[in-house]
Formats: sequence, C-alpha cells, structure tokens
Amino acid sequence: MDIHALQEIVHKTRDERRKQTLPKYSPAERDTLIKKYHPDFRESAYRPIKFGPNKGESTVRELATLLEGESPVPADLDLTPAHAVDVLVIGGGGAGCAAALHAHAQGAEVLLATKLRLGDSNTVMAQGGIQIAITKEDSPIQHFLDTLKGGHMKNDHQLLKVMVEEGPSVAQWLLGLGVLFDRDSDGNLHVKKGGGSSKPRLLTCSDYTGLEIMRVLKDEVLNQKIQLMEFSAAVELLSDENGACTGAVLRDLDNKRFVVVAAKTVILATGGIGRLHIQGFPTSNHYGATGDGLALAYRMGAKLLQVDTFQYHPSGAVYPEQLIGALVTEGIRSEGGHLVNAKGERFVNELDTRDVVSSSIIRECEEGRGIRTMSGRIGVWLDTPLLEVEQGPGTLEKHFPAMVRQYKRYAIDISKDPVLIYPTLHYQNGGVQIDVNGESGVRQLFVAGETSGGLHGRNRLMGNSLLDLMVYGKRAGTTAAARAKSISQGKLTIQHVARFRAESRKHGVSDGIPSPMLFPAYSRKE
Ligand code: FUM
Repeated sequence: MDIHALQEIVHKTRDERRKQTLPKYSPAERDTLIKKYHPDFRESAYRPIKFGPNKGESTVRELATLLEGESPVPADLDLTPAHAVDVLVIGGGGAGCAAALHAHAQGAEVLLATKLRLGDSNTVMAQGGIQIAITKEDSPIQHFLDTLKGGHMKNDHQLLKVMVEEGPSVAQWLLGLGVLFDRDSDGNLHVKKGGGSSKPRLLTCSDYTGLEIMRVLKDEVLNQKIQLMEFSAAVELLSDENGACTGAVLRDLDNKRFVVVAAKTVILATGGIGRLHIQGFPTSNHYGATGDGLALAYRMGAKLLQVDTFQYHPSGAVYPEQLIGALVTEGIRSEGGHLVNAKGERFVNELDTRDVVSSSIIRECEEGRGIRTMSGRIGVWLDTPLLEVEQGPGTLEKHFPAMVRQYKRYAIDISKDPVLIYPTLHYQNGGVQIDVNGESGVRQLFVAGETSGGLHGRNRLMGNSLLDLMVYGKRAGTTAAARAKSISQGKLTIQHVARFRAESRKHGVSDGIPSPMLFPAYSRKE
C-alpha cells in the first residue's frame, strides 16, 4: 500500500490518542519486555571471545571477530618514527578534540591524528543535547540517580560521580569557547527533558547540538595550532618492553604508507561501532565508526567492559530508503510526539528509557502491529504533525530545523506527515575499562568518549554521551600531558602484536579479518 494511505490511521486517531492514558509498565513488565525483545538478548547473535583479556566473555559475533582480527602491520615494519610528541590523540571527534585542547593547555606537544577529516565523528551528528544539571530545581545527585536507573544500576559509580559533578564546569567551558546553546526569552539557558530523566536537563542547540559543539571545538583546535594529521588512521599501537604504550602506527590513507609516531602517552578517542552493523541493524553512526579503538586497545591487553550491551535508539528512519537508520531525535518524543502502531494505538511511554521503548517497538512489529513499506521494511509511526497541532504551526521548523530539512530533501513534510521509524544501532554501552583519569589497564594508554566503557551501565541516557566525552576528554588530556612531563620516551616495539599473533594461532584464528577494519565491510566492494 502507498505510504500516504498507510499514514491515514495516524491522522484519524490523533484526537482520540490525545485523551488516552498511556500504558505504564511495572518494573517486572519492563524487565520481561527487554528480555524478550531487546536485541541484546538474542543468544544466537552472541559467541564467546576466544582469547585475550576478555577471553570467554560473550559478545556479538561481529565484535568478537574484530577483536580477534589480524593486525595489518608487518612483523618487520621499520619503526623509525616520523614524528615524536608528548601526547598523541587518535580521533578527531568531540572526545579527541577536548583531549587535545586540554593536553595542549598543559603545555604538552600534541599531535591529533584522525582517520577522516577533523570533526568527522558521531559527535557532529548528535542532535538532542548535552545533559548537565544546571537549574535550581536539579542537582548532580539527581543526574547521578537518573543515569544509574537508566543504566540498570550497572554503571561505574566513580566514573559517573565525576561526570555529573563536572557537568556545570563543562557548560561554562563550552560557553566560553562560544557554543550557542538555546536560551529562553529572558536570555537564560533553556533546558529540555530527555527520556529516563526526572528533570529537564538537556542544553541544546536546536536539533544540531553536536554540530554546534564540534564547530567550536574544531575552530579551537585550529586556532591553537595543534598539529593535525587527517586521513591518517591508527592501525596499531606501539609498546615498550614492559607493555606500556609508546606511540602508534598510522596508515596514511592518501599515500598508502605506514607512519610511525613516537609518543610518551596516547589517547584513544575513536568512537563507536555502529558501522559494524551488528545483527544486521542499520545505524545512526558516521561512516568511520568501526570500533578501531576497541581492537587496538584489546590487542595491547586492555580489558573491555560490558561487551554484551549495545544501544538501539528507538527512532531510526525506515522511510525513505535513503535515510535508513538515520536518527530521528528523541527530542521529538520529548516534545510530545506519539509512537503509533498500525492500529492507530500508542503502546509505550515515549519517554521511557531507550531499551524499553525500542523493545516495545520491536514487539509491535513482531506481533503484527507494524507498518510495512513497499520495499519490505517495517516500523511504527512517530506522529510529528501532533507537535504542530499542540504547540502551533511552525513548531517543528523552530525546534527541529535539521530534521525538517533531512526529510524535505525527499519531499516529505514532517509537519504534515508522520514519519516511520524502527530501532537503529546507536551506541556501544561498554568499552575499554578506564579509571577516573581516563587511563586504561595499559600504562600510558588513555581512552575517552564512546571507546571507553563502564559509565553508562547497560543503557545510556540521552545527552550523556556528549557530557561523557567532554569530561573524560578533559581528564584524559590533562593527565596524559602531566604524565608525559614526568617520563621519557619509551622504546618502540610491536612485541605485543607478536604475542597476540601467537595467541591467535593457538586458538585456531589463523585467518582473522584485518583489524581495525577502518571502513564498513561494504565499502571494500565499492
Ligand atoms: O535522540 C537523540 O537526539 C540522541 C541523543 C543521544 O544519543 O544522546
């Protein structure tokens, strides 16, 4: 059936739905729902990791294969460094830029290397905001409790405490750099409420918060004249005879050659894994999100946390085909957008935590209440025109200009037509274990942002990733710079790679895939 004909039910049931009381799930019902429908609980998608620091732990097949994969660096690579710096930052997104700026501010000589262009990252795509407890009605303690509840109490308390407490100073830092957060008519910072949060706490720049933050961070990196290498992907780390990190091997993607960088400390900020498309899911992530940092740190012997849990954002676009997996910000649900099934019914509190909302959408689709597109994809409606009905014409253009444009390019007017959505792979909840200064289990190897794990527990709340990467980018940058001052450059070896290769052979993984992948599997065919 034509998409417009299918949409009719949303318009027809709108008035009735506005009067309807929402289904409210008890804690036991939420638990059952997640266990039955959340992709984290599909046993067949998982397998144990064969060797390394997380040996025997279960993770999705795609990640297990990546972690066990083969280093692209030949055993006899000439390790004469082309560059020698105090701090090497790997990754040019929010965490990498924050780390580089704070390390530079400490007087360290910093080199920032990034696989694509400066700023190409998930940060730049972040829409909904950054959670910071700044209002009188709110507090870091409340932020702590909301995050803990959202993470199913599996969050690292210390990491979380530091993050919520340092939030207000991050807001000041960003404002000082020139980030234009939304303000009310009196000029005060305007805050919005995200799913799973008890208080409005999101600082936003319309629906392009990450783009605005990244604009300012990028400018600052350039203004501070921090050394920058673009199109330079990290493909291996370097270790000394004691296993501490001493630099990295980069792949110059333009000239197809290896570049060795000696560094007293290294900060990994390579982002997430969306482009592994685990379990076949589409993703909201940028093209370079292939879990490079996880693979590199793992080979060095760094322990990963919570490798079995991923975030499937409830609202990824299902139609049109060109937008498959693209994010439709939770902000629309926060402003009152209903989720509607094929029978015209609401079926969940749209502002419940993401794991609950995603599970309920999957349930609706599996139980025959989803809407199928002509290409065979399935989803449920997000009633975007409702915002115009409730808050007046022009509401979407005012609050969600990027979303309006995203659809307008395909001749879809979201102020008139609802959009079809289904969960999209959005975030890796776990990652490399770090301490409160961002240091991993491998000395001199720091990790910041989505590559690190522990803070968000088993489900991240909206807006907490932007805060995470600012706080731990800063802490990693500051500590890595201070450490670099107190040590001399260690030897450059790839002994850990030789050990890893031997382990790999012992466990029968002689034909591992090239790891890190650098680009999604389908890019190789192009
Ligand atoms: O829906 C969103 O805007 C996503 C935000 C986030 O993941 O933090």
